[in-house]
Amino acid sequence: MKKNIAILCSGGDVSGMNPALKRFVEYSLQNNLTPYFVYDGYEGLIDNNIKKTSYCDVAGIVNRGGTKIGSARSQRFREAKYRKQAKENLHKLNISMLVVLGGDGSFRGLHQFYLEHKIKFCGIPSTIDNDISGTDYCLGIDTALNMIKLSIDAIRDTASSFKRAFIIETMGNKCGYLALVSHLTSGSELCLIPEVPYNLKDYEEKFKHQIKNGRRYFIVITAEGIKQNAQEIANWFEDKIGIESRVSILGHLQRGGNPSVRDRLMAHEFITYAIDGLLKNINETIVCYSESGFNYKEIDAVVNTPHQLNQELISFISS
Ligand code: F6P
Repeated sequence: MKKNIAILCSGGDVSGMNPALKRFVEYSLQNNLTPYFVYDGYEGLIDNNIKKTSYCDVAGIVNRGGTKIGSARSQRFREAKYRKQAKENLHKLNISMLVVLGGDGSFRGLHQFYLEHKIKFCGIPSTIDNDISGTDYCLGIDTALNMIKLSIDAIRDTASSFKRAFIIETMGNKCGYLALVSHLTSGSELCLIPEVPYNLKDYEEKFKHQIKNGRRYFIVITAEGIKQNAQEIANWFEDKIGIESRVSILGHLQRGGNPSVRDRLMAHEFITYAIDGLLKNINETIVCYSESGFNYKEIDAVVNTPHQLNQELISFISS
């Protein structure tokens, strides 16, 4: 008998989810599985918003950001009675395997779901925050970094026309990855992230000296998780450095945009590993990626190990 497999997207959407959905449908069919979409994340699992899908549903989506099947941050899925309802819905449709694209919070919910109902699943790290333990790459990061790069490059054009400091705030929740990589690749003067304590006073003399020696403008990248907000940093530049300042909070544009080549390829590979794993009975795992390639990690270890930002990248901030 043909087996049924479902996929859902949970938490903040990322560019790369649509290419992943396309690969999911095509690779499932190729493996003689019947693919299902769960709409709006765990909410759809609870409300039985689960539909059989096929090639025509994924035509023309590979180049689109967001997710065709919707995502959500489900509060109800935190409650046991709704998780039971979700399990019953999967059971009614004879769905024996589940693929989940999501971040840390989504995997915690999935872990709990598994502990209670022993459902066969595979998780794919998908968050622009890149803050999941055990994997160096989460789907969507490359596109997000490219969106940030475009924004910083554009801001640099106007920053260099005036004598101004631009404070550019990136997303990332409590993780500084997006800010740090953007700093290293855009040549900004200062980067402030939650993982590295800072004291603005330490930069005062250096920045004043640079202005005296001809510097016209500053680009500063801050992560949304630092202790001060971007406007406070801008005020410091005006008060202590004596340069007019502006703030740009990049916000949700970082989550959108046409998926990059890297994210399309990673989506393809993540899904292939997820389905291959499930077919080989490698269950209850997250597909992780490191320089040595893809591997499967127990969800327990992934959700219960605090994420650490790459120390080498951090060391570049001060060097
Ligand atoms: O987790 C992804 C993320 O984009 C974070 O970087 C950000 O803090 C948060 O989601 C924003 O969430 P929302 O879309 O619910 O405002």
